[in-house]
This record gives sequence, structure tokens and C-alpha cells, in this order.
Amino acid sequence: MGYAGPGDTLGVLLSGLQRLEYRGYDSAGVAVISDDGELQVRKRAGKLNVLVDDLHRHPLKAGHTGLGHTRWATHGGPTDENAHPHVGDHGRLAVIHNGIIENYAELKAELLDEGFSFTSETDTEVAAVLIGREYERLHDLEAAFRASVRRFEGAFTLLAVHQDEPGVVVGARRNSPLVIGRGKGENFLASDVAAFVAHTTHALAIGQDQMVVLTADSIAVTTFDGEPVEPEAFEVEWDASAAEKGGWSSFMAKEISEEPEAVADTLRGRLRDGKVCFPGLALPDSALAAVDRVLILACGTASYAGMTASYALERWVGVPVDVQLSHEFRYRDPVIGPRTLVVAVSQSGETMDTLMATRYAQQQGAPVLAVCNTQGATIAREADGVLYTHAGPEVAVASTKAYSAQVAALYLLGLYLGQLRETLSDAERTDAVAELEALPDRIQGALHASEGIPQMAHWMADTRAVLFLGRNVLYPVALEGALKLKELAYIHAEGFAAGELKHGPIALIDPGLPVFVLMPSPRRSAELHAKVLSNIQEIRARGARVIAVAEVGDTAVLPYADDVITVPLTSPLFSPFLSVVPLQIFAMELSTAKGLDVDQPRNLAKSVTVE
Ligand code: G6P
Repeated sequence: MGYAGPGDTLGVLLSGLQRLEYRGYDSAGVAVISDDGELQVRKRAGKLNVLVDDLHRHPLKAGHTGLGHTRWATHGGPTDENAHPHVGDHGRLAVIHNGIIENYAELKAELLDEGFSFTSETDTEVAAVLIGREYERLHDLEAAFRASVRRFEGAFTLLAVHQDEPGVVVGARRNSPLVIGRGKGENFLASDVAAFVAHTTHALAIGQDQMVVLTADSIAVTTFDGEPVEPEAFEVEWDASAAEKGGWSSFMAKEISEEPEAVADTLRGRLRDGKVCFPGLALPDSALAAVDRVLILACGTASYAGMTASYALERWVGVPVDVQLSHEFRYRDPVIGPRTLVVAVSQSGETMDTLMATRYAQQQGAPVLAVCNTQGATIAREADGVLYTHAGPEVAVASTKAYSAQVAALYLLGLYLGQLRETLSDAERTDAVAELEALPDRIQGALHASEGIPQMAHWMADTRAVLFLGRNVLYPVALEGALKLKELAYIHAEGFAAGELKHGPIALIDPGLPVFVLMPSPRRSAELHAKVLSNIQEIRARGARVIAVAEVGDTAVLPYADDVITVPLTSPLFSPFLSVVPLQIFAMELSTAKGLDVDQPRNLAKSVTVE
């Protein structure tokens, strides 16, 4: 984050960093140019509060220009030395950086030859020293910065300040995100609008390979070559309080509770007279009607949202629907073309793997539709069309409400394509729309029905492994349940298609091993229900402890399960929205029972902006 203005610079930076901490939290640092012209840098390994405590004990002098950074380590471990900002020009210039400068080794060798020395293992320090060297030559921050960024390869967002030019912050971006916040007599730079939304909702997007020179009352954007650019302005819809914890014990608890609203907001304005409408979708209907395949690209929870929705999409659209992990897709010479609709699903809209996959798909001539939650994000901007989920800011690192909103958005897309292609009967469409509209209340019901889970999690706090089983549309939910448990409670967890267990993984069943089984509806999926009951018997015979997640009134499962968590009735394709809720709550409660940080699990970052 960068700031220039009359406000309390350190306060602005620290509160902004708090909102950005989801991006990385292994170390943090700030640089503030004091009013008497001294560049002050403070940085600490550990979470942001370590830095905040340090600043309380040893305050900085006030100033009106500054930078702040939270780190997710790539080059060099999370130490004080490797934390950002890094300095150049004899401690007079400070630089912060996201991404990876891929040619840093070559640049470092050049600088070492010239007699420069380094105190960290990071690629960022190379950038700081290089910009510092250019400053010594040019005595102009913008010129020194421009000369340097043109030499960097890879993905980066870089911000710099120099003590001889107080009031000026320069920034540049290639692939990694950077947004401008335009305030009254103060301006902001940040990787995400969440950092400055408490101060201003007026934002400007910076494009690829562009840089910005910012002061309290001026903003100048140019290409790396110096051509002036008119940045695209947009209004941030999130209100600042949405990113506050309120009275909740964690952001995750708050965000799970917001799932009904997240789905309702994603549907709002898109259902009219029993049909789906997408006002303002840039992709023409003719192109959408012509698709002969849908390919969903995503990572992590977003990929499970894609998998979940693929069952409904295939049924409604009548074309093959595949889901691939973005980082796998990109390097397998995939066969796609103009009639493949590529759907890039990303909460942040900044996941580098998904961005790169999106670009590759576009180069192959495929139309790309982004399903994103963050306005102005890179994937949303670069895609040919964007369908925003309106889940509001998701702060907890592991994704919860964004999953439900993504599945809802993809269901809308499936219905829309089905309408256009006339592959969906009126009756099925009307039913599906009614099911969608009923979802917020039913999700609320699933939240109420999950009240016994904290106690269950408590007695399972020493569990070393947990399995999750599901069939059909509940199979991806089993995968998501397992991912949540890995992310939040550091427990070895696996999700399996229930029918696959007997083909190998059943060997994992030890006496007492907890196994969550996601039950299909006995009324509307009777055949599958019977099959899953058989699967339960196979694992119970080997001593598994079965926790069934079943529709209310499913008495048939009672004799086979040690515990039953009930969820409201819904039609089968919509059951993931309900079954996922107890799994999310279970992972959160188990993490809490183990005394772990639910919102910021170890080793993770919410938005991974490196490949
Ligand atoms: C990271 C996060 C996950 C998230 C995934 C995709 O790995 O830790 O929670 O699901 O990225 O993020 P995206 O922003 O692209 O949905």
C-alpha cells in the first residue's frame, strides 16, 4: 500500500495493511518519510501485530508519504531482513514489491560487480538497489523508477518513495495487481481496493505495464515507455464496514453466517419472470449460444465450486463441461477454440495461475468469461466478459461464502446458456429458478441445523485424519470439506467419490476413523441414496465412525450413522449449497478447538499472485 496526503500516514497504512493481510502474513513493514525529510523504515517477521507492537514501543516521527507491505515469502524465509520495504541509495529510497522478478539473479550479479552489497535474500532488494543506483545517476524518482522497471522480467507490483522527494509515491505493475484510490487531497495505491475503501470509494485501474506517479493531489499514469494513459475510473461498491469483524469471533465465522446474503446478492437483479438475465455482460449472446464446450479454470476452492456447478451446467446446457486446475491447464497444450467457452473462476480475480491460464485461452481464440468477486481485479478486466459474485469482501484466508456465491453465479450461467441454446425445458428452468430463489432461506436453515457441530469438533480435536465421501454433485463438496479441514485444522483429510472407495482408498479405514458421508436425498435421488448406504456399510464393517450429513427426515440413514447432521430439503442439484455449510463450520470449529488461527492459517495466502 502507498499513501500521500495530510492524514495520519502510519495509521492509514496500518489499517490498510490489516485489510490486505490476507495476501500474506509472514512479515510486515512500513516506510514513512518524516516531515523533516528522513526516510524511516520499520519491518518485522511475523504477523502485522508484531510490527504494530514494535511501532507502539518505538514510534516513528510523523510524515505524509509512506509505504506499507505484508509479505508471503517467495525468495528467502520470513525474517526481519527479508521483510519489505527494502532500501536503496544509502537508505534514502524504500521499495515494496509483490510478485517475482525472474531475472533478479542476473541483475544482482551486475550490481555486485559494481560493488553494491545486499543484506537480504530477496529479489526485491535487487530492485531497490537498482532503482537507488539509477536515482544517484538521474536525481529523479520517476525517471530512476522508469529506467529500472523496464529491465525487470516476471510479475511485479512495485512501489517506491525517496526521502529527497517527499510527497511522491511511484508505482508500477506487470501482471500483479495495483489500484489507485482517489481521495480529497489524498491519494492511495494498493493491491486491492479493500485497503483504502474506508477513505474513498473512487478508484482508478492501472493497466498492464503501466506506472503511476502519485502525490496528495495529483495522479499521473503512463506506460513504461512514458506515454500518458487515461486510467479507467470505477466506484467501489463495498462499504468499509463489510470488511470489519463486527461482534464475531473470527472473520470466518462472520463470513459463513453471511452465506445466505452472499447468494441472495449474487442472484439479485439477474432473475426476472422466471428467466435469467445478465444486464451488461460484454459477451454477445450469439457467441454464447454457439459454444460446444464449457471449460472452467480455477484453483483451490474456486475449482471445487467449478466442479460442483459442472453437473448442473452439463445437464442444462447440453455440452461437455470440464473443470481444470489453471496451473495444469496452461502447460498441457490444451485443445480449445472459439466455440469453447472458458470460465475463469476466482474470488480475488488475481490468482496468477488463473490469470495466466486465462490469457493462454484467449490467445487460442476462446472467449473467456470471468466469475470474480473483486471489482476491478485483473482477471475481471482482462476477460471478455465478467459475471461478478456479490459476496462482499472475504477476509478469512480459506474461502467460504465465496464458494457459495461462485456456485450460484455458475448456476445462473448454466440457466442462461440453457435458455439461449434452448436446451432447457421451460418447466425445468422454472423449477431451477424457484430453487435458486429459495436458497438463501434454506442456507439459513443449514446454519441453524449446524449448532451441534462445535461440540463434535471439540471431541475430535485430537483426530489425525478425516475422510469425506460424496457422490455425484456432492462429490466436489466432499473435496471442499477435506480442503477446508486441511487449510484450517492442519489435519490430513481426503475427499473421495463414495463409489471409488472400494477401489483402493478403503485401505485407509482404521477403527474409529471419522468419515463424513454426504447423503443424497432419499426421496429425489433414491437410487444414489441406496448406493451410498451400501458404501457406508462397507466402511462401518471396517470400523469407521460415520457422520452423515443428510436431508431432514432421512430416517433410512439413522441405523448406519454414528452421528447425523441434518440439512433442509432441496432438490438434488442444489444440495451442495446446504451440505457444504456443516463442513465449513466443522473445519472452523476444529481449528478453534486446536487453538489455531482460523482466519490466517499457516503457510497460506488468500490470493496467490505468483505462479
Ligand atoms: C488460494 C487460497 C484459496 C483459494 C485459492 C483460489 O490458494 O488460499 O482459499 O480458494 O487461492 O483463489 P481465487 O481468489 O482465485 O478464488
